[in-house]
This record gives sequence, C-alpha cells and structure tokens, in this order.
Amino acid sequence: MSEVTLTVDPAFVVGTLDRRLFGSFVEHMGRSVYGGIYEPGHPAADPAGLRTDVLELVRELGVTTVRYPGGNFVSSYRWEDGVGPVQHRPQRLDLAWRSLESNEFGLNEFMGWCAAADAQPMLAVNLGTRGVEAACDLLEYCNHPSGTYWSDLRASHGVEKPHNVRLWCLGNELDGPWQIGGKTADEYGRLAAETAKAMKLIDPQIELVLSGSSNSSMPTFGSWESTVLEHAYDHVDYLSLHCYYDPSDGDVDSFLASGVQMDRFIEGVVATCDYVAAKLRKPRRMQLSFDEWNVWYQSRFPGSEHLDWARAPRLIEDEYSVTDAVVVGDLLMSLLRHADRVTMACQAQLVNVIAPILTERGGPARAQTIFHPFALTARHAGQKVLRVEPNAPTHDTQRCADVPLIGATATIDDDGTIALFVVNRAHEPTVLRADVRAVPGSTVLSHIALYDDDSRQVRPREMTGHTMADGVLTLSLPPVSWNLIRFNSV
Ligand code: AHR
Repeated sequence: MSEVTLTVDPAFVVGTLDRRLFGSFVEHMGRSVYGGIYEPGHPAADPAGLRTDVLELVRELGVTTVRYPGGNFVSSYRWEDGVGPVQHRPQRLDLAWRSLESNEFGLNEFMGWCAAADAQPMLAVNLGTRGVEAACDLLEYCNHPSGTYWSDLRASHGVEKPHNVRLWCLGNELDGPWQIGGKTADEYGRLAAETAKAMKLIDPQIELVLSGSSNSSMPTFGSWESTVLEHAYDHVDYLSLHCYYDPSDGDVDSFLASGVQMDRFIEGVVATCDYVAAKLRKPRRMQLSFDEWNVWYQSRFPGSEHLDWARAPRLIEDEYSVTDAVVVGDLLMSLLRHADRVTMACQAQLVNVIAPILTERGGPARAQTIFHPFALTARHAGQKVLRVEPNAPTHDTQRCADVPLIGATATIDDDGTIALFVVNRAHEPTVLRADVRAVPGSTVLSHIALYDDDSRQVRPREMTGHTMADGVLTLSLPPVSWNLIRFNSV
C-alpha cells in the first residue's frame, strides 16, 4: 500500500473563492429545457410549467450561475423568437442539433426559472449568424429600465423591471468547424471587440466573456487565444475555456488523470493571457471562465448530421459511473486550485444532456453519481483556497505524463473549518498522512468518500478509522476514490 504526505497550512492562500465557480449550463438541446427544467402538465410542474422536483435538485446541487441558451444552439438563434405571447412564437429549425425549436420557452421563462433556482443568469449572444446589433438589442431588452423600443417591448411582455443580467458570453466556440457561422481568430476577435464595446456603452456594469478555443486539442489552440485577446483585451473581463473528458476508450488511468490535464490546460491558458498582457503592456490580469466542463462519452455521440428534426429528442443522456464521479470531483479540485485566475465555471450541462440530473417525461427526476461531488464541494468549500502540494509518487499514462498518485486541494472557512479534498488515482488503498500542525488542536468533523467497492452503492459514504496524533492526520483513501475531510481546531 502506498503512503503519501501533504501539509495543510492556512498561511498558504491561493485566493478567495468566487462562488460562481459552481455554475452550470442549460442549452436548448435535447431534453435539457423541454422535458428537463420545463414540462407543463408534469405532476410536479408549477403554473409556469417549471418542474419543481428538478428545481429542488438544482438547489441541492448548489448551482450558483447558469449559462443559457447555448452552446452551439446560440450561434443560429434569434432571441426575439422566444419572447412575447407564446401563441405567436415561431417554430424554427435549430441547425446546431438538427432539431425543431418551438420557442415555447425563451428568455423571460429562463429568468423566471433562475429566480426559482436561486441562480444568477449568464447569457450568450449569437456571434455566429448575427452580430453587434442583435446583441445590443437583447441587452437593451434585458437591462435598460424603460422608455426605449426594446425596454418598452419587455414591459409590454409583462416584465416591468429590467432583468439586470450581469454576465454575458460573446458567442460560443466560434473556432469550431461545426459552429454555425464559424470564424477565423481575426474575424471573431474584431467582431467580439466591437460587440463588447457597444454592449458596455448600453450597460457599463456588465461583465463579458471572450470565447477561447473549443478545447485544447483544436489545431489553433494557443494562437486563437492570443489573437482574439489582442483584439479584445481592453473590452472583456474573462476568456473562456471548454473541455470534456472522455472515458470511452477504456484507458482508465489516463481518464483518472483528467484533473492533471485540466491543471495543465488552465496553466497554458493563463500563460497565454499573461503573454498577451505583457506584449500589450496591460496591468490588468485576464480572468478565466471555464464555462463548459464535464465528463462526456463523446465517442458514443454519432454527430448532429445524423439527427432528423425531432422536437426535444433524447441527446447524449450519458449514465455516469462512480469512476466518472471521482473524475468530476477531481476536475472541481483543479478549478479550486486555480481560484486566483478561474473565477467562473459551468458544468455542462445541468439536466438530461451530459448532466448530474436525469428526468423522465411525466416521471421522476433523479441525481446521478456526478451530482454528489459537485453538491458536496459547493456546500463545503470555504471562503479561501489553500495551496496543498502532495508528496506522492508519479506515473505515466498513455495520454498523460507525470501523474501524481493523489490530487489534493483545501479551503478554509471564516470560522476556521478546513475542507481537504483528495482524489486517490490508485487502484489500491493509499495511506494519507496530512501534517496539520498549523491548525493547532485539530479535530476531524467528517471523512466522506465516494468510491466503488460495491457498484450498487453510488452515494458518498461516511468513513471511519482516521487518527489524529501530534498534529498529523492519518487515514486510508479507498481505491479510485474522491474524499472530503473536514476538520477544525476546537
Ligand atoms: O454541451 C454540448 C456542446 O458542447 C455545446 O453546445 C458546445 O458549446 C460544446 O461543443
């Protein structure tokens, strides 16, 4: 059995945790909206057709921010189709997912859902088939108080007060050849900068996210980031990152290294942002928005060209294993580790489509395995993230070199409670010795682990057997497990 050590010291602060790191994503795609968050006639639906059983799970998950309406969907979306009397809304082809979009659910319905979910909206504008004008119209509709065409139209739709949407994404994945209205880095950089400039004239309080690469294996990764930043640095607040980790090739060890791969991806993008800042002599450091991340069995998806204009078809409704949940926990730890630069993130997606929550039409809603590490991290992560450097042996996998046997991070709350998150990537138990002498008189409040020694048992379990002696906490990490250990000084 291997042994690893680490030190937890409240003096080693990475940064203050921005709770928008616990964001999620609702796209008009598959059954995410229709039959997911919205299903009029369902026994649990409220008068607006919002599924209250789903809302309950969303609140339990601890989601703070929700990105909407896409994703690929937004790149050919006309937002005006989704406002005003429902009977006048047109049915359209959704080119991204070759589906039929009824537009029964749109902007104002989403804002009502956010209020019920206690989540902050993050809206994306269409920079695929549209541009500056449509983005400005949408912002004016949402945020301008009154007395103009779009703000008065909003009022005529029964929404007197402005929505005051703070977070906006400037398009989505426009580097991708699959994107409707895809662009070169120069084309997108210019358009995004001009859109940002105009949007900030309408409402200077908004925060804008510039689209980074669709993932780090795109051929233009790196140069896309530097080019678009050179165009738009002064006008935007965040650069986005997207990445999905795919377990389908059966290379479990590489899959278990996903957290390490995410660390390296983030650090590469931080370096690129800082390179552009240095080159342009900008004192402000760009923040990152990791606004699409998750585990996705991508190779099972046949591709949208095989879809045939159905309404709300079942699309990529992956069923997750416990190993997937361990990796999701590890990905969250990677985000926390970079809390000084990654200040916003959205797990993609929230309901039915590669999601922690699954629903049946007319039937129940349930939490998948990946629900648990998200909910526990969102609930227990404290105000400040602490730097933790495990002393652990490393190994190479087929896709990733120098993978430490364990990954770890910690947070501290205002009341001094420490949450230590640890993932064990080994296929055998690992003994952890944590030096916590910097937290005198430490007592363990709980050790919760998510692991798979019984495939039917997918819920996190309360663990016993830890000891605390002379300021050293010793415990056993189950094979391939995600662990949360909470302690404080009494
Ligand atoms: O989340 C599913 C899709 O993945 C999104 O629409 C797109 O942005 C990404 O490629």
